[in-house]
Amino acid sequence: MTAQLNARGDVAVLVPAAGAGLRLGPGGPKALRSLAGEPLLVHAVRRIAAAPSVRLIVVAAPAPEVEAVRALLAPIAPVTVVPGGAERQHSVAAALAAVPVGVDVVLVHDAARALTPPELIESVAAAVRSGHPAVIPVLPVVDTIKEVGPGEVVLGTVDRSVLRSVQTPQGFRHEVLAAAHAAGLDAHTDDAGMVEKSGTPVICVPGSELAMKITRPLDLILAEALLRAT
Ligand code: CTP
Ligand code: MG
Repeated sequence: MTAQLNARGDVAVLVPAAGAGLRLGPGGPKALRSLAGEPLLVHAVRRIAAAPSVRLIVVAAPAPEVEAVRALLAPIAPVTVVPGGAERQHSVAAALAAVPVGVDVVLVHDAARALTPPELIESVAAAVRSGHPAVIPVLPVVDTIKEVGPGEVVLGTVDRSVLRSVQTPQGFRHEVLAAAHAAGLDAHTDDAGMVEKSGTPVICVPGSELAMKITRPLDLILAEALLRAT
């Protein structure tokens, strides 16, 4: 059944999905690769559409796949599909351009985090709505982290208590994300990183194990297991 979005919602979700998926190995663009019989992007969009305050979903698809992605997602939810760019931030910028003024909260959410629960989308949006201009979901870092120098010689152990692993959706007041993009794209930082550079405070909220990013073949196996367990 096609999901309905909330016409009175205040949230747009941008879904960069135009990556090649090189680290996943051969098999086509990652967002279109199958997880338990359905493309990652379908899993992701279904969960985004289930978040009650979402009014608009904009997917940045690989340019040659735009029509195919429109057809794929039409039965899932009403989605705007635009061609993505060469780097993730170009894809985010293309999707952002499709968000009308008047939508106050903009979330940026990787298609590769296909199992992200609607509750996390809502909690990030709620934190922005409550007055934080920029919000990121995070988890504590579990491994010991070493700083290393030339020749893989250990220089020291990093204090893990001050580190966080960052997920998506990252949430912003619309004008804050628009201003960060207008100030110039940096392909090597995430959306929150671009906002940080402008001096805007970014706050953390608790992330979710289910929002893991599917990057390597092992992650597909883990995601299938998570899907069965939930
Ligand atoms: N992405 C995008 N446009 C790009 C590159 C990435 O929209 N030019 C999207 C991906 O589709 C993904 C998200 O950004 O949903 C996070 O990127 P990543 O996990 O690195 O995905 P890929 O770039 O596809 O994978 P890889 O780096 O292994 O090629
Ligand atoms: Mg990539």
